[in-house]
Amino acid sequence: MQLLDGKLVSQHIKGEIAKQVATHTDSGKRAPHLVAILVGEDPASQAYVASKVKTCAELGFQSTLVRYDADLTEEELLIKIVEFNNDTSVDGILVQLPLPKHISENKVIETIRPEKDVDGFHPNNQGKMMLSLPAFIPATPYGIMLMLEYYGIKTSGMNCVVIGRSNIVGTPMSILLSRNTEPGNCTVTLCHSRTKDIKGICLQADLIVAAIGKPKFLTADMVKNGAVIIDVGINRIKSDETKTGYRLVGDVDFDQVSEKASYITPVPGGVGLMTICALMKNTMFAYINNVK
Ligand code: GUN
Repeated sequence: MQLLDGKLVSQHIKGEIAKQVATHTDSGKRAPHLVAILVGEDPASQAYVASKVKTCAELGFQSTLVRYDADLTEEELLIKIVEFNNDTSVDGILVQLPLPKHISENKVIETIRPEKDVDGFHPNNQGKMMLSLPAFIPATPYGIMLMLEYYGIKTSGMNCVVIGRSNIVGTPMSILLSRNTEPGNCTVTLCHSRTKDIKGICLQADLIVAAIGKPKFLTADMVKNGAVIIDVGINRIKSDETKTGYRLVGDVDFDQVSEKASYITPVPGGVGLMTICALMKNTMFAYINNVK
């Protein structure tokens, strides 16, 4: 079993981006600029946004974090997004999800200009991705593709199972893995809450992407020997062993499944780091288009 080390891969990619940034700023251009908008106090969202802002600083990006209370109205948020859309010094805009219930995520996503939608959630970007046209690719699936590429995992012809059909992970992941690219060229099955016999389907898989949001959902009896296992889950579970009283586990029962896998991502230290890395790559693309 080989660990797919998100720290190693993300350090490598971040090093490349930082060099690119320096080349631009040394020639007198401004730095890439990402705006992150956080509404409410969700602890996981606060932690994710803090990591994104910290990574911007590491790479030489400018970042602006805008925080609002959970009672912000939808209209107020949309007005702010339009302001950033029109601000030429801003390359990328991300609104951390989930949003409070009274705000329509679809409306928010559709208000971000597609050229600044570095999360790749706008229907323009999702549609272009489906057609294999140049587009911002949602950060988690993009990060997973970068990880597979870095380790030279030959996915062509593999039976791949994606568990979870969210708009931001499972569905785009299934499209990327089935496209005529390397990595890609897989035969993909997308499983969800209504799927019959998930175990039987997973047992056929050469590659499994678990993105279902249930701690340790994927167990060893669901995995064939030698499968590649990608764990997207970041679940907090109670623990007596840590100071905080909780620890992070994935959607995969790592201890069991790692005994059978050829490659496996750990949690933490796997896909989460790749997501941030992919967001930074998207922001760099947006910047290059914006300042050219
Ligand atoms: N919430 C969970 N994942 C993401 C992500 O990749 N981007 C944003 N904006 N919100 C998220």
